[in-house]
Amino acid sequence: MKRVKVSAPGKLMLFGEHSVVFGYPCIVTAVDLRLSVTVEENAEYFFSLEAPDLALNDYHRSRQELGQGDLPKAASFLETCFSLFLKRYPQEQGIKVFSQNEFAASYGLGSSSASTVALVRALGEFYGVNLSKEDLFDLSYQTVLQVQGVASGFDLAAAIWGGTLYYVMPSAAGEKPIVQPILIQELPLLVGYTGIKADTSILIRKVQALRSEDPAQINDIFRQITDLVEQAKQNLVLGDFAKLGELMNQNQKLLRQLQVSSSELENLIEASLAAGAYGSKLSGAGGGDCMLAMVGQSQKIATAQAIEQAGGKIIEVKTNAGGVRLEKTL
Ligand code: PMV
Repeated sequence: MKRVKVSAPGKLMLFGEHSVVFGYPCIVTAVDLRLSVTVEENAEYFFSLEAPDLALNDYHRSRQELGQGDLPKAASFLETCFSLFLKRYPQEQGIKVFSQNEFAASYGLGSSSASTVALVRALGEFYGVNLSKEDLFDLSYQTVLQVQGVASGFDLAAAIWGGTLYYVMPSAAGEKPIVQPILIQELPLLVGYTGIKADTSILIRKVQALRSEDPAQINDIFRQITDLVEQAKQNLVLGDFAKLGELMNQNQKLLRQLQVSSSELENLIEASLAAGAYGSKLSGAGGGDCMLAMVGQSQKIATAQAIEQAGGKIIEVKTNAGGVRLEKTL
């Protein structure tokens, strides 16, 4: 029986969340927690999905049902993705998909995007369709836009290209994103999870509403964030972690002005700074999920303890992980 297994990494947004949705650049790094998708022949149904980490088992769709109606949340990305793949590359053989996560979906480390990218790559391999990185991005981005409405696609770029990237979203549907690898070593970061799952769409809409009320002010904040992104890009290459910490603090100040921080995030950020971190900020949409702290080696243990004492959970990750890859073909 034919079987293909592909894995893709999660991500951490380093600088530039929210403004990236409006066409400004951001910096993202891929992390070494991976998500895998296995695709194999299906003799019984056209599409079956098992995602035990999302409590989804025994989920089956006929060809006619595929992508139709209200999809259960746990199936939405992968079913939409398969349905869009078939529109571009029609196929007769049905598939079974098994998805497995090395990290909790609730951390906000990009599990939906990583699984979408992994599935597109696996479908290409399974059906013998040659897909470039740009093709992978395009199909994955269509999927995310269909499921979520608005998104920059930064997390898809991290899952596809891996490493640490300077990223600008496509200027229109079907256009290419700007993806520039920033060649750096492992970053001395601590990641603290607030225990609260953020709703990215709600937070994006909140920023959109603020911008409709006062476009000049919000655009000015976006430009200030962009200036920080450009400085961060240079200081990443220089390896100046103290300066990067300072830039993180400034980015966090602007994110507060966008009203996307939360008391839980602020508690962890404050605790990390009091323990001697160079700088700290939320990562991603805000409202919950994770914060980051840039730390020197001598402050690392004390800062991790301070984050935990403030109610956070330290998530061990390495930055700069490799992008999507084929694990096994049978
Ligand atoms: O919370 P996440 O990991 O989905 O990150 C959201 C980052 C935003 O800039 C707010 C949205 C996006 O698509 O770029």
